[in-house]
Amino acid sequence: MQKAYLSGNLAPVPDEIDALNLPVEGTLPPELTGRYFRNGPNPRPGEDPGHWFGGHGMIHGIRLREGRAEWYRNRWVRTAKFTDGADFIGPDGVNLTATQANTHVIRHDGRIYALIEVGLPYEMTPELGTVGPVDFGGKLTTAMTAHPKADPITGELHFFGYGFAPPFATYHRLSASGELVESREIEVPGATMMHDFAITENYLVWLDLPVTFDLNRGGGMPYAFDEKYGARIGLTSRDGGVTQWFEVDPCYVFHVGNAWEDEEGRVVLNAARYAPDVFASLWEEISGRTDVATHATTRINAALHRWVLDPATGKSAEEPLDDRGIEFPTFNEDRMGLGSRYLYTVASREIVKYDHLTGSAKTIDTGGHTGEAVFVPAQGASAEDDGWLLSVVTAEGDSRLVVADAWDLATVASVRLPRRVPAGFHGSWLQD
Ligand SMILES: [Fe+2]
Repeated sequence: MQKAYLSGNLAPVPDEIDALNLPVEGTLPPELTGRYFRNGPNPRPGEDPGHWFGGHGMIHGIRLREGRAEWYRNRWVRTAKFTDGADFIGPDGVNLTATQANTHVIRHDGRIYALIEVGLPYEMTPELGTVGPVDFGGKLTTAMTAHPKADPITGELHFFGYGFAPPFATYHRLSASGELVESREIEVPGATMMHDFAITENYLVWLDLPVTFDLNRGGGMPYAFDEKYGARIGLTSRDGGVTQWFEVDPCYVFHVGNAWEDEEGRVVLNAARYAPDVFASLWEEISGRTDVATHATTRINAALHRWVLDPATGKSAEEPLDDRGIEFPTFNEDRMGLGSRYLYTVASREIVKYDHLTGSAKTIDTGGHTGEAVFVPAQGASAEDDGWLLSVVTAEGDSRLVVADAWDLATVASVRLPRRVPAGFHGSWLQD
C-alpha cells in the first residue's frame, strides 16, 4: 500500500502550469475580484519527504475578475531548501530559510507571505513568483507561525514562533504598516508543537499541548504525543506580564476557531480538538505508516470543542460542542477576537456551518473532498454571515473552486480547474 500522503487526494502534481479563461458554472459574484491562493505540500516527482508536512510548499492560485475566472497557476515556493537543497538543521544550528513554506499564504500591508511554522515567511508576488525570505529588517530571529492573527481594529498582525531550544515560544507583533514592533518570550516548559493560537480584545491565548519534540522518533517529523507533558491553555495580557495557565484535559489542537471575552470577562475559545488516541493514529498515518488500523486518506477526526477560562478565578471549563469529525475552522475575520456567531468547518465531503447562538449546525455535501472554506465578506455586508465561502473541491481527479453563499451554503458558482489540486492546508482570498 502506498503512503497516504503520496496517494489519492494527497498525491502531488508533477509540474507547474498556467491556464487562462477557466470554465465557470453558475454566476461568480462580480465583487469577487482578486485572487484565491492556497498552499500545501507537494514533493517533487520521486521525492518522499517522510511525512505529509514535509513536502515543498506549492501554491495554487485562481484569479477572479468581475464574474470571470481569468487564470489558474500553480508554483512551488522557492525556498533555500527547494532551490539549493539547504539543510534545515546544519552545523550552525537551524536554518530558518531552509524550509518547505507549505502551510498558509496570507497578505499583510500589501505583501504576500508563504508561511510554515518552523521558518521565516517567504514573500511571494501576486503572480506567485518567490521574492525571498523576510526577517523584517533583521528583527525576526525565530520562526513564524503559519497562523498569525490580524486584529480587525488596529490592523496589527499578531503571531509567534516556536523552536526546539529555549526560548521555546516567542510572541511577536507587526504594526499595520508591517514593522516588527514587539517580541517577547512566552514561557512554556518544553518544546511543544504549537501550531495555532488565538487573540481576544485583551489577551493572547496559548496552546501548550502534549505533542513535543522527540529526536528519538523515527519518520519525517520529530514530534510525538507525550502524556507526561500535561496540557495547558495560557492567557497573556496583550500589554505584557506573566502568562496565566489553565490545566485542561490532554488533547491536541492544530486549529482554533474564534476566541473572545464574554460579559463576565471569561475567555471563550473554540477549536478543533483531537482526543489523544485519535491524534496518535492520525499522526502515524500522515507520517507514512501504511498499517494504521483505520487507514483512510485525508481522514479528519477532530471535533469542535470549547474551553472557557476565567482569569479572575483561575478556573476553566470545557465541553464538546459536537461529535462529528471536522477540521479547518474559519469565520468572518472582521470579528477576530471580538466574538462571532458562526463558524465554518469542513468534513470529508461537507462544509459544516455552526451557529453558536442556537447550538445548531447546517451542512452541505459538496460532492467531493472539500478543502478549507475561506470566508469572504460581501461588499457592504449587513450580517456576520453575509458573504462567500471559497473551497477547492476534488472528485474523481477533477478539482473545482466552489463559491458558496455563506448564509445557506448553496453553491453559486463553480470554477473548473485545469488539473487536480492535491488536498492541502490553508489559503486566503486577496481582494484587489
Ligand atoms: Fe494549520
